Amino acid sequence: MTTILRHDPTGTWFLQGATSSYVLRVEPSGHLTHLHWGPRVEPGAIDWFTPTFDRAFCINEPGGRDSGFALDTLSREAPTGGNGDFRAPMLGVVNADGSHILDLRVVAQEIHAGKPRLDGLPATYVEREAEADTLVLTLADRSSGAEVVLHYTVFRDSDAIARSWRLTNRGSGSLRLTRALSASLDLPHCNWTLLQLSGAWARERQVVTHALVPGISSVESRRGTSSHQHNPFLALLAPGTTEEHGEVLAVNLVYSGNFLAQAEVDQYGHTRLQIGINPHEFTWELTPGATFQAPEAVLVRSGEGLGGMSRAYHRLYRSRLVRGPFRDAPRPVLINNWEATYFNFDTEKLLRLAAAGAEVGCDLFVLDDGWFGKREGDRSGLGDWTTVNLAKLPGGLQRLAEGVNALGLRFGLWFEPEMVSPDSDLYRAHPDWCLHVPGRPRSEGRSQLVLDLGRAEVRDHIWGMMTTILRSAPIGFVKWDMNRHLTEVWSRQLPPHRQGEAAHRFMLGVYDLLERMHREFPEVLVEGCSGGGGRFDAGMLHYHPYIWTSDNSDAIERLRIQHGTSMVYPLSSMDANVSAIPNHQVGRRTPLTTRATVASTGAFGYQLDLLALSADERAEMRQHSERWRSLRHLFHHGDLHRLADPMTNRWAAWMCVSPARDEALVTCVRMLTEANTARLPLRLRGLDPARTYRVQVETLREIPSGGGAAHHAPVHAVFTASGSALMGIGLRVDSPGDFIASTWHLTAV
Ligand code: GLA
Repeated sequence: MTTILRHDPTGTWFLQGATSSYVLRVEPSGHLTHLHWGPRVEPGAIDWFTPTFDRAFCINEPGGRDSGFALDTLSREAPTGGNGDFRAPMLGVVNADGSHILDLRVVAQEIHAGKPRLDGLPATYVEREAEADTLVLTLADRSSGAEVVLHYTVFRDSDAIARSWRLTNRGSGSLRLTRALSASLDLPHCNWTLLQLSGAWARERQVVTHALVPGISSVESRRGTSSHQHNPFLALLAPGTTEEHGEVLAVNLVYSGNFLAQAEVDQYGHTRLQIGINPHEFTWELTPGATFQAPEAVLVRSGEGLGGMSRAYHRLYRSRLVRGPFRDAPRPVLINNWEATYFNFDTEKLLRLAAAGAEVGCDLFVLDDGWFGKREGDRSGLGDWTTVNLAKLPGGLQRLAEGVNALGLRFGLWFEPEMVSPDSDLYRAHPDWCLHVPGRPRSEGRSQLVLDLGRAEVRDHIWGMMTTILRSAPIGFVKWDMNRHLTEVWSRQLPPHRQGEAAHRFMLGVYDLLERMHREFPEVLVEGCSGGGGRFDAGMLHYHPYIWTSDNSDAIERLRIQHGTSMVYPLSSMDANVSAIPNHQVGRRTPLTTRATVASTGAFGYQLDLLALSADERAEMRQHSERWRSLRHLFHHGDLHRLADPMTNRWAAWMCVSPARDEALVTCVRMLTEANTARLPLRLRGLDPARTYRVQVETLREIPSGGGAAHHAPVHAVFTASGSALMGIGLRVDSPGDFIASTWHLTAV
């Protein structure tokens, strides 16, 4: 049965998700209206839904005969401006005659099985046509010849809908696009709490909520990347919505550059929800015949609170956004040398670290920044991917990689392909290859400039250097980094009136390089990174099965970062490493078990000098690696239930349940302890109430030692309980000290 149904007499389309419906109507005037996004309704007449009614001081259609029809009061899809809708438009243009009107009316309506690809952009996909249906609505502006083709893909058994559109200039004059949001829809009230994921470098994706007020509430990036500061995501929560209950409507953009996401409450108390490329400094020229493809937005509706929303995103993203041979493959345990050595390494030191990595159970050794060109620190060398630093690495990458392989580990390498250091051979040879405005100073960030990857010759050159390196040694992994934001966004290839295209062309260029990586090196696992989690978005997830979640590796800070990230992105996409104490970012000391437990909830690894640790600590690490290996299927394929919110509690707790509900892991981390308070009641979720589970408890107990450093003793216990008792009564967690992690491993008996 198709997921898209049409009720003919009224021209109404029902997009049917697993538990939700998204309902659109083509009005007799050809305007496209939005009728409903909420609980599932069965297709039929909803004639009582009049699109608009007579309101004072409104602009009516030309001729003015119907005073009840006003665009400003209409609940719209794909709204435009200039002729009566004074709210924020989804699309904006400047026509050849200088006017701004885009009067879009539906001229064709079709359903296609499956989902078409998006030209040059990352997107969700299907493997078989039967997995989804796509509604294709063609809208046209008769005067200018602008044609907009809207795509709505409904995934079977899911509450996710993918939206995008393509604009073609079918007129004879040129058309300038000035606003190209991917999705817009109007909701009938404003009684929502808005949830956004905001923060900073080393403090990414903190959950922030506030009530909507009249006017626009927005998050955006003007930095050229999706950014550490705000994520391209917004959710609207109905009153009383919690982790488990209540209605959530969410939008997430599959794009990694400048974005805008906003909720506008209009004069009547309606809400317009939008997401797309940031109109700030954006323009796109369309000569006759030219086409522009907007990025995809993924919309999720949940009737089961935030947890339901997250699980819908996770299921879709890990199976139909991430792609390639590593999509379903178990994540390797890695050791990365960055926090172990920074720039101070040589082959022998790295091999000793890799050997220690092998001892603690790693599968992969990643050589981070500093292996190439003149790169003794972060002030030089970027762009010189041709020369390996032979003073540090005699015998080159091959000797090192083979040495690492001989220890039983795969070898991985760091690149920052989008950048150039002014102090580099590449810059000296091609000073005009970076984004810059002729005659103006070039602003530096981390002593580096951004390459103009919108230009094919720049991309080809970078790619040529990378492929030579990738073929020079057995390299099975790449960490793809990006360590500054874009300034002086101006491209030599564009005439002055097209400079508004430079930032998006840069992004398309990055995607082109990532496509080449997938096509030519499918056996290489590519991790994303941007100063930690500065480009943790759905666009990047299409190319990177996982991303370095944050440069902040402190276990306690990571609780909030990973909690916020998990709102949209699956656990399997979050690279999380055990690092040293005192932690390099915040100076905190946490027990090894706690660091390992928090890192375990992502793609697990180590980033510390293993050689500085005792044999006992290394033996404990080996146990953590083995334990993670035995549980990683849960984090990769299981359902996440967040049990205690670290934004508002002194605890963080969550659990992952296998798809068959026969296994689960519950994790609880105490942040700061308190004297004599109630034990934390932890009601579990997602289990089979009718089954009995064997519960294996592991926690640490802090043993005070008379003024000296406390030490921690593990406590193990086993009991059995029914799923219904575990969910209805729950566990009771006490507080044995600061920063203590406990886990409960459940297996159905
Ligand atoms: C960024 C990354 C780090 C590390 C350094 C290397 O900050 O987030 O993990 O790779 O660059 O310079």
